[in-house]
Formats: sequence, structure tokens, C-alpha cells
Amino acid sequence: MSKVYVFDHPLIQHKLTYIRDKNTGTKEFRELVDEVAALMAYEITRDMPLEEVSVETPVAPCTSQVISGKKVGLIPILRAGLGMVDGILKLIPAAKVGHIGLYRDPETLQPVEYYVKLPSDIEERELIVIDPMLATGGSAVAAIQALKNRGARQIKLMALIAAPEGIEKVQAEHSDVDIFVAAVDQQLNDHGYIVPGLGDAGDRLFGTK
Ligand code: PRP
Ligand code: URA
Repeated sequence: MSKVYVFDHPLIQHKLTYIRDKNTGTKEFRELVDEVAALMAYEITRDMPLEEVSVETPVAPCTSQVISGKKVGLIPILRAGLGMVDGILKLIPAAKVGHIGLYRDPETLQPVEYYVKLPSDIEERELIVIDPMLATGGSAVAAIQALKNRGARQIKLMALIAAPEGIEKVQAEHSDVDIFVAAVDQQLNDHGYIVPGLGDAGDRLFGTK
């Protein structure tokens, strides 16, 4: 069974409150999502392996540590996942970025794939699938499957807010994928929206409603 990590860092929780607030406008919403994504990247990279290297300071030679191991790939689910990419890239600037385009059919709530463009070496990378909202889990499960079908072996999932239903679905279908979130909310409503959530992440990020 995969693990679920809920980041309770005060800065993340503080900013998430303003992200949820319906009175927060598009510009501020986008800035806050960017900031929380960077803070979450700091937490999600805790287990990255280090190796010792030699370095000369202006005073003396010494050994110090650098990150070793696998290269990272960021996989935002379009559209809303885009809002978290730049924040993560601030901390992991060498990461490659692949895109998976999915939208949720408003009637069936099933994900519909419309675009996939990935780094050529995804099987060698540690991939982080990014989407602010893990609601029914349909989009995340489909995106993870799309990556596995193309050879991906190591995948983490990062979301701002998850519903219990979404977590259960990802764990049931991809038990090897750990889930990293800033909050787990109560439930989904009849339209598949997370309650209380933050509303429609894509619309709030891009000002389309
Ligand atoms: C939203 C959100 C997730 C998905 C989550 O995307 O950004 O991708 O819904 O729902 P699920 O867990 O029930 O699949 P949406 O379909 O609104 O597309 P958008 O990001 O382009 O607005
Ligand atoms: N997608 C969103 O943007 N918000 C939700 O609450 C659920 C799915």
C-alpha cells in the first residue's frame, strides 16, 4: 500500500487558507499556488540521496555533499497542474517537464486524454505527477497509467488538496505511488468537487470563470 504524506508545515497551511478563500483573486491565487508548490518540493525531496564531493572554499579544501541518484521529471496534468510547475522548478531547476492533457467530462466525471508529451528517458527518471486537486482520483490514475504504459518505473503524486475518495482510488490502482498533499478534505459533492476544497483550480488559476 502506498503512503500518504500530509504536509502540515505552518507556511504551507497558512498559504493554503488564502488559496481556499473565494475572495482571493487570480493573481494572488497563482502566486500562492506557486509558493506552496515550492514549499512542497522542499518537503518531497527530503529522501533524495546525497554523495560526497571535494570542494575548495576560499579558505581550505573540504568534502561536502551534493544530490546524487536519479534525475527528476515533473509531469503536470493540464491545465491546473501547470500552476505548480514553476514553484517546483525553483528548487529542482534541472528537472525535465512532461505534460499530460486530461479533462474531466462534466457528466461522467471520467478523464479524457487529449495530449501527452514526455521526456524521452522517463524510465530513468523519478517522476512527480502534479495536480492541485485529487478529487475522484480518475485524472491522477489515468495520468499515472499513461506514464507506466510508456515505461515509467518510479512515480510520486503531488496535490494541494485531496478527497478521501481520490486517495483510495490511487492506492487501489497504483499501490506503488506515494501521495504528497497539503490537506485531506472531507468529501466530494454530487458534482465531483472537493468539499470544502478551493473550487475549480483551473478556472481560478487562469481566470476562466
Ligand atoms: C480538474 C483538476 C484535476 C481533476 C481532478 O481538472 O485540475 O485534474 O479535475 O478531478 P478527478 O480527481 O475527479 O479526476 P479539470 O477537468 O477541471 O481540467 P482543467 O485542469 O483543465 O480545468
Ligand atoms: N477539480 C477541481 O478543480 N476542483 C475540485 O474540487 C475537483 C476537481
